Amino acid sequence: MSLDTHATKPHEALAAHLAPAMDAVNHLIRLRMASKHAPRIPEVTAHLVEAGGKRLRPMLTLAAAELCGGSGENAVKLAATVEFIHTATLLHDDVVDESHQRRGRPTANLLWDNKSSVLVGDYLFSRSFQLMVETGSLRVLDILANASATIAEGEVLQLTAAQNLATTEDIYLQVVRGKTAALFSAATEVGGVIAGAPEAQVKALFDYGDALGIAFQIADDLLDYQGDSSSTGKNVGDDFREGKLTLPVIKAVAQATKEERQFWARVIEKRNQNEGDLEQALELFEKYGTLSATRDEALIWSDKAKASMASLPDHPIRDMLTGLADYVVARLR
Ligand code: IPE
Ligand code: IPE
Ligand code: MG
Ligand code: MG
Repeated sequence: MSLDTHATKPHEALAAHLAPAMDAVNHLIRLRMASKHAPRIPEVTAHLVEAGGKRLRPMLTLAAAELCGGSGENAVKLAATVEFIHTATLLHDDVVDESHQRRGRPTANLLWDNKSSVLVGDYLFSRSFQLMVETGSLRVLDILANASATIAEGEVLQLTAAQNLATTEDIYLQVVRGKTAALFSAATEVGGVIAGAPEAQVKALFDYGDALGIAFQIADDLLDYQGDSSSTGKNVGDDFREGKLTLPVIKAVAQATKEERQFWARVIEKRNQNEGDLEQALELFEKYGTLSATRDEALIWSDKAKASMASLPDHPIRDMLTGLADYVVARLR
């Protein structure tokens, strides 16, 4: 088994190290996405699951458990649980965002319909709860039930913040912490809990996941403007079309002249967009350096994630998790 973190990207090193356990996770996912009565369920789920995805969250759970000296069947179950929750949120999110591309494939809402995506998402959420109950740990249930509620809360908060130019960086942070970081931090926290780690380590794992998730989402929002579809597997410019107040926009609005504010009010608040508006937005980002300021923000959170590793055991897995915090921001220019 290779522990080489230098030859490959950190998430690849982590993936290589965790490969046998991840095989078990993927096997469990396939087993549990089945449905006796509704063939639409495995059809829709397989479309998304077989497209791959980075499997970051289940890897975080397995890595956290191993780092704290515990792996085994329950860690695999919890890893599958978090990927199920993630898959359910993606199905719902693509309906809410009216997205057309995910993991390099047409979205389920496009191929089937919104109804199928919502209902299959609900099914997967419920399946995730069945899986975590099997661990017999009420603490784990508490953590993942809270995370699920927090994700939904983050998505709803974003819904009401979208198209509202008064959205502040604080609100943005709250959205991101909810919709994305809550699952990252729950993924690492339950890994520690199931391994029986001391409380200080569980707390450090939570903090790592929280900061990593925030860095990850800030990076994702940046890639929505400057990524390329072939590597992200999603369409560029989706957030702009949706009128989402992500960090580059919030920072540009905060510095806007009267005329520029009128532009933002038209394209974001009224969502009255014409050809050339995305280019105009990019020019304003350039004028105020908001893309690089956003990148700096992602780097700060990545550093916070790395710093929270300090109290965890000195272990090759710890180095890979540190490398992962670099990787999520290394995707940025
Ligand atoms: C997508 O997450 C949703 C966000 C939080 C941005 P990932 O980028 O981890 O998605 P997959 O699982 O690799 O497709
Ligand atoms: C990601 O939301 C968070 C959840 C799926 C809950 P986004 O809408 O920002 O993610 P992408 O860009 O569609 O992957
Ligand atoms: Mg989306
Ligand atoms: Mg969304």
